[in-house]
Amino acid sequence: MDHHRPSSWLIALSLVLVQLLLEPFPSSCLSISAKEAQGVYEYEHHNNLELNVFLQKVSAKCPTISRLYQLSEKSVSGWPLTVIELSSNPGEHQLLKPEFKYVANMHGNEVLGREMLLRLADYLCTEYLNNNQEIQKLLNSTRIHLLPSLNPDGWDIAASNYKSKDWLMGRSNLNGVDINRDFPDLDVIAFRRGSKEDFINSLVSHKMQPETRAAVIWILSNPFVLSANLHGGALVANYPFDETPDGSTNTYTASPDDQTFKHLARTYANKHKTMSKEGSKCDNDEDFTKQGGITNGAAWYSVAGGMQDFNYLASNSFEITLELGCEKFPPANKLREEWENNKEALVEFIKQAHIGIKGIVRDTFGNPIDGAVVRVQNYTDGIGRVINHDVTTTSEGEYWRLLTPGLYHVMAAKPNYNPQTKTVRVEEDQAKKSSGAKLVHFVLKPLFE
Ligand SMILES: *[C@@H]1O[C@H](CO)[C@@H](O)[C@H](O)[C@H]1NC(C)=O
Ligand SMILES: *[C@@H]1O[C@H](CO)[C@@H](O)[C@H](O)[C@H]1NC(C)=O
Ligand SMILES: [Zn+2]
Repeated sequence: MDHHRPSSWLIALSLVLVQLLLEPFPSSCLSISAKEAQGVYEYEHHNNLELNVFLQKVSAKCPTISRLYQLSEKSVSGWPLTVIELSSNPGEHQLLKPEFKYVANMHGNEVLGREMLLRLADYLCTEYLNNNQEIQKLLNSTRIHLLPSLNPDGWDIAASNYKSKDWLMGRSNLNGVDINRDFPDLDVIAFRRGSKEDFINSLVSHKMQPETRAAVIWILSNPFVLSANLHGGALVANYPFDETPDGSTNTYTASPDDQTFKHLARTYANKHKTMSKEGSKCDNDEDFTKQGGITNGAAWYSVAGGMQDFNYLASNSFEITLELGCEKFPPANKLREEWENNKEALVEFIKQAHIGIKGIVRDTFGNPIDGAVVRVQNYTDGIGRVINHDVTTTSEGEYWRLLTPGLYHVMAAKPNYNPQTKTVRVEEDQAKKSSGAKLVHFVLKPLFE
């Protein structure tokens, strides 16, 4: 498929331009069109160069609440994988402030999420400046990372073959690999209750594409709490597990956090203008509106090596997959309407990083305990049911545990310390409270002093 690739000198030239753009330089160098000067958003498809220029402009408009950075590796052809971070203290993790991420366009031909994240970045920046209290509160309490494209090479192929209307052209990366099948398959290990060593071996032994590796390193090196993976070609909010344990093509495969994931998926589907509404199914699709616009991933079709389950099984992040619309590459004149469809849902979903409980695990000397395990039992119905998915504390002793309303026993434990258990009631609408997640701290006594 060589003739689909942009010529190498063009890539080289573009890369030089991107490098220049990513160097910090005064915002006056960025040309501003007449429309932009009036604060009017121009709905259009942004190619890879324009994407980077756009993010640079947003960051220049909001220097105190944003920052650009790149993932540790570039795409196969050499495009940077650029992230815009929006938060009241960009560039640093603040104690107990949850980290959130949206990733789009990992399938290069599914471009709606990419444009929605660019629009979202501009919206969050502009509304913060406009004193919108909701957005200020969100950015003051949450660190938001937006990666508009995990597969810029695929986008180039899809955009240059736009007229062919081929359903798959540009889906994979430049080496022809589907990034959403390229993550270490931790499900198979989880299903047979494998050990931590099995997990680590699977991570090390699996040879990944650079885009996948960049995502894996990013996921493992930040304390993300919640995330979503943005796709297109269908209209549904999809939640773990994505893979069936027996190799069957479609069997409902509940994760231990099925209740919480349903809540998360429903939040998006209900806030989206059409996702949960009768009559909004895409051609060739099942009618997901009968299920409120949500589906268990494996019940739809089994996926091995996807990013969603990797997040849940390898990190503390709860991730769902959002199919944002029936058209994978909608024309530019549909983008305004799509933004109106997705805007509230995109914002409301980020707020869900504040449901449940969070806190710090310390020892009796007040030192934070790194790598302590926080385990939850659901006592809402009077019978203790372990939710078989522990979260682990950060180097500062922090943990976040997303939970739906109910009564829980929460235990913090670490080898060589006495575990501590607390009883907690998680209220309805916890996320709306000014403090966000309920604070539940732990103090563990060392066994041998
Ligand atoms: C957000 O934080 C900024 C800076 O500390 C503050 O000026 C602003 O009032 C806060 N906004 C809200 C809604 O909390
Ligand atoms: C705990 O159990 C209650 C009652 O069955 C349920 O409503 C709630 O969603 C459960 N919580 C979680 C996190 O599964
Ligand atoms: Zn996709």
